[in-house]
Amino acid sequence: MKDKKTKAIHEQIDRSHNREHSTPVYLTSSFTFEDAEQARALFADEIEGNIYSRFTNPNVSELISKLVVLENTEDGFAFASGMAAVFASFGALLRSGDHILCSRSLFGSTHQILTKILPNWNISHSFVDPERPDKWEEAIRENTKMFFIETPSNPGLDIADLEMAGKLKQKYKFILNVDNTFCTPLLQNPADYGADLITHSATKFLDGQGRVMGGLVVGKKETIAEIRFFARQTGPSLSPFNAWVLSKSMETLSVRMECHCKNAHILAKSLEGHPALESVRYPFLSSHPQYKLAKKQMKQGGGIITFIIKDGYERAAKFMNYLQLASLTANLGDTRTIVTHPASTTHSKLTEKERNRVGIFPGLLRISVGLEDIDDIKTDVLQALGKSA
Ligand SMILES: Cc1ncc(COP(=O)(O)O)c(C=O)c1O
Repeated sequence: MKDKKTKAIHEQIDRSHNREHSTPVYLTSSFTFEDAEQARALFADEIEGNIYSRFTNPNVSELISKLVVLENTEDGFAFASGMAAVFASFGALLRSGDHILCSRSLFGSTHQILTKILPNWNISHSFVDPERPDKWEEAIRENTKMFFIETPSNPGLDIADLEMAGKLKQKYKFILNVDNTFCTPLLQNPADYGADLITHSATKFLDGQGRVMGGLVVGKKETIAEIRFFARQTGPSLSPFNAWVLSKSMETLSVRMECHCKNAHILAKSLEGHPALESVRYPFLSSHPQYKLAKKQMKQGGGIITFIIKDGYERAAKFMNYLQLASLTANLGDTRTIVTHPASTTHSKLTEKERNRVGIFPGLLRISVGLEDIDDIKTDVLQALGKSA
């Protein structure tokens, strides 16, 4: 099997004696031991096997192996949510006195972990501008243990240079951790640039139908071993049922991403220059400030676009209230088109200054472009823009 689409469909745990075609759900908290010796050997890590679903479970293992293969990595662990995945990678690998370098544009909760939670354990952070990789090296400190990057970022769609991050990782030996949620492994593989860890919110495009929460971290075997130890003891593991749903979803990921990207690109182009808008952002629009970089490291532009509506929040709220097809909800990566106002929802816990610094202005709207007919999506967005005047 060479092709990723084929791998996402055929990567499967061993069939049971029932010879099922599709993997069943292993809804079991624990697994039986054949005898006392097997129990001892399993707990002593002398043999491999399932013990307890907080540690491993067949459905969870199948999901992990799919993402490991698609991300060109070695091993992984699956979590109850994307944030549990992000936090576990920090909690397992950072120690008191360490410093974490981060790209400035990050999902709101990741920002809160860095600024409000990690300082409690004497773990410091600093932010670098994803658009100024020439400045990254001077921000690295002696105690920099990890460089955490989100690219494209949520919601700003800033692109961070993965090749440059990989080169700095080689030189300074920190752990390079990339949140690849917006791209999915089909549009971008950070491991190819030397990333040690690739983090995903599976709640988004991996599920793709707005049903279950989940998160994964995949990467180098020895780094994942530390994360597995942390997670096995602290208990943020993904449920078997959610893993089963997500593993099934991965089988259709390539056709879904193809359509998300195509629809998003068409919508972005049709909104450029609209009189109600100050600007439109999409990684594969030539007007994106990092268009060349996006073209270099992403196979397609992704399913998310943003724009800044004129007159700020007042008009943004009117636009949202006039939408008829698109949903107003705080998720993305769904079959249905979703419109979100980041400043008042996903990023409302940041201060206004912090939001302005990363371009989350009162007029910023994020559209997760769904799989509906593109003409229907365009009609809805354009009619709401027209009425919002
Ligand atoms: C880029 C990114 N990372 C992490 C998360 C957190 O994922 P979850 O909501 O599954 O905890 C999100 C959620 O929107 C996200 O967009």
